[in-house]
Amino acid sequence: MQSTIVNITLTGSSYPIIINDSCFDLTSVKEILAGRKVALISNDKVAPLYIEGVSKELSKYCSGVFPHILADGEEYKNLDSWRGILDFLADNNINRSDILVSLGGGVVCDITGFAAASWMRGVEFIQIPTSLLAQVDASVGGKTGINHPKGKNLIGAFHQPKAVIINTATLKTLPSREFKSGLGETVKYAFINKPKFKKWLGENSDRINQQDLPTLTEMIAQCCEFKAEIVQQDEKELGVRALLNLGHTFAHAIETFTKYKEYTHGEAVAIGIAMAAELSVIMEKSNQRLIDNVRALMAKFELQDTIPKSINPEKLVELMRLDKKVKGNTHRLILMKDIGESYIQTNVCEKDILQAIENCQS
Ligand code: NAD
Ligand code: GLY
Repeated sequence: MQSTIVNITLTGSSYPIIINDSCFDLTSVKEILAGRKVALISNDKVAPLYIEGVSKELSKYCSGVFPHILADGEEYKNLDSWRGILDFLADNNINRSDILVSLGGGVVCDITGFAAASWMRGVEFIQIPTSLLAQVDASVGGKTGINHPKGKNLIGAFHQPKAVIINTATLKTLPSREFKSGLGETVKYAFINKPKFKKWLGENSDRINQQDLPTLTEMIAQCCEFKAEIVQQDEKELGVRALLNLGHTFAHAIETFTKYKEYTHGEAVAIGIAMAAELSVIMEKSNQRLIDNVRALMAKFELQDTIPKSINPEKLVELMRLDKKVKGNTHRLILMKDIGESYIQTNVCEKDILQAIENCQS
């Protein structure tokens, strides 16, 4: 199959997202790889499945592949793993004329990007995302980072990849819970600014749930286009890019509160979007129809939209204070006026946030 290419054009850099449903299509990046050493960063779950094939493809163009395997899991997206990558780069004399390549889900993409951003004040890197969440979101747009014990993604840098290579056939080995988690980040585009995508998702939900590869490939390409559109307008999140964080402030608090053990990122985002819808109605920016629409789409993909009573809403609000979007003492959150009409709401008071969380408890 011919690859679909979505281009991201930014002031300082431009790069292609190359999407194929049967192979890792490196043909358009052969000049980038030519004669360079590749530090290939993966984890112990994805590497056994794909590292051999990817290394073989990379070896056609680069001068050598140096694999480094991380432990699998969000809990390893931390300073120790990042330091481990830097030690590995030092031990293998990876310098600014070489290149890093990630192979894995969003965790591997984020930490590899951050290692590339920080090593020798910035080396080039390519993302090869293998989870749905990373293919629709995490690998695209240049946000890189790791978690701090006090909160998610608190350490990081904007550093754009040279290319993103997506082989949607990798989704065949993705555990079904992780697939659903990726749908949490997929549906967010519909609520942010793409109401037609909501219709498309609704019409194609059966094929998506059955993991029909052509439908998934089309869905991923659309998400990459939506994300590219926003990142092109606002690479460093000074304005409109913040909309991509719909549901995320709630989600990060849920993930931190439950120590990354109870919810995947996408599951937490889906619940966070439901909380954002509740808050939009509490603040009288929207009406019950929005909540019903959000819950109906979540239901089509069997995405949870509530948290149990055992999660203390006050503690979540406390954690939300650490969010990067907090300005002064009031919260700044992404809310919705309607499906596909999200906006940045400043001066959100904690009483309303608390109420929105409580409305999503069951
Ligand atoms: P993940 O990287 O932990 O992957 C989920 C699980 O699936 C892991 O066990 C992983 O090893 C496994 N996996 C991945 N691909 C596989 C495959 N093809 N076959 C079998 N197993 C596979 O989690 P994720 O959901 O991919 O990403 C979540 C992370 O992404 C979070 O850390 C989040 O903060 C980050 N993120 C970043 C951005 C960004 O813009 N940089 C955007 C959204 C999310
Ligand atoms: N995932 C949010 C962003 O890339 O801005």
